[in-house]
Amino acid sequence: MIDLRSDTITRPTPEMREVMRNAEVGDDVFSEDPTINRLQDMITEITGKEASLFVASGTMGNQVCINTHTRPGNEIILERNAHIFNYESGAPALLSGVQVLPIAGTNGSFTLEQVQEVIRPQNVHHPKTALICIENTHNRAGGTIFPYVEMQKIWEFAKSAGIRLHLDGARLWNASASTGISIRDYCELCDSVSLCFSKGLGAPVGSIIAGSRQFIESARYYRKVYGGGMRQAGILAAAAIYALENNRSRLPEDHRRARILADAIAKIPQIDFDPATVQSNIVIFNVRNTGYTGQDVLDLLLKREIRMLTFAGTKIRAVTHLHISDDDIHYTVEALGEIFKTSQK
Ligand SMILES: Cc1ncc(COP(=O)(O)O)c(C=O)c1O
Repeated sequence: MIDLRSDTITRPTPEMREVMRNAEVGDDVFSEDPTINRLQDMITEITGKEASLFVASGTMGNQVCINTHTRPGNEIILERNAHIFNYESGAPALLSGVQVLPIAGTNGSFTLEQVQEVIRPQNVHHPKTALICIENTHNRAGGTIFPYVEMQKIWEFAKSAGIRLHLDGARLWNASASTGISIRDYCELCDSVSLCFSKGLGAPVGSIIAGSRQFIESARYYRKVYGGGMRQAGILAAAAIYALENNRSRLPEDHRRARILADAIAKIPQIDFDPATVQSNIVIFNVRNTGYTGQDVLDLLLKREIRMLTFAGTKIRAVTHLHISDDDIHYTVEALGEIFKTSQK
């Protein structure tokens, strides 16, 4: 089976399992797990932040950061296709009691002007704008990269306006691999960042947040509130360390394979697709003009042992990762060619 649904489906390799088996562990609620402490030190160094905190998932990382930055009744600004807004189960309202103000972005990005338009004036009628969230790369827009220069502008503005900036960097590894801009340079433009090990890096579980020492101290409290105070979780941190040391450098391969797939899809005239949106390891195309629904296409792909995801009725997503080879991509290109040869059903 060629599983292109997500880069979250990867399974730990025998080598990764071996380092997990041998990991030194301790009670992390007492901050006594040496492997977690080592991972946190590594991420503090990579991000250039003062401190880091291992968390169970990207969602937990984002939500702990939102709660730490805000008070109930505050407003947070994000892009309308953001993961935090669409796929985190209403958590900002449920867990932090904040109101979300979505901006209609372009390919997952928005501009400083768009932020300035929606900032609330300070008076009793309005919620306080407390936080801006940027997602990089942007999942639902197809792994697109938020332009660095625009991030700089938004960051400078946020600082001057007393608004915090959180970076949902679940796939910031991919953004950095694609642009050559270091994780540290990206992290200079935010108060907090959340990074995932369980996506392109191929670890089975785990994410991490980074920020100032004081921020991480408060975040530790919210992590505990959410039930995320894990104990001998060094076995998970060992997988994350292995992933950082062995799998990060291979991300350009995933990007190259996504590009091969994108170029082939761009040649199928009935498919509505802008290959310029493919900037990392995600390819999203629309089959609305083919006579098929997204589900029809998934069924036809499944008959050929290929899995993708569909959303919004006719959009299809394919994600390259650790377990996808060049041969898998060539076979997938052939299969799409066969399916769309005759086009309309
Ligand atoms: C951009 C982004 N942020 C956050 C998450 C949440 O990660 P998790 O599934 O580990 O909760 C995801 C998951 O795919 C994501 O794509």
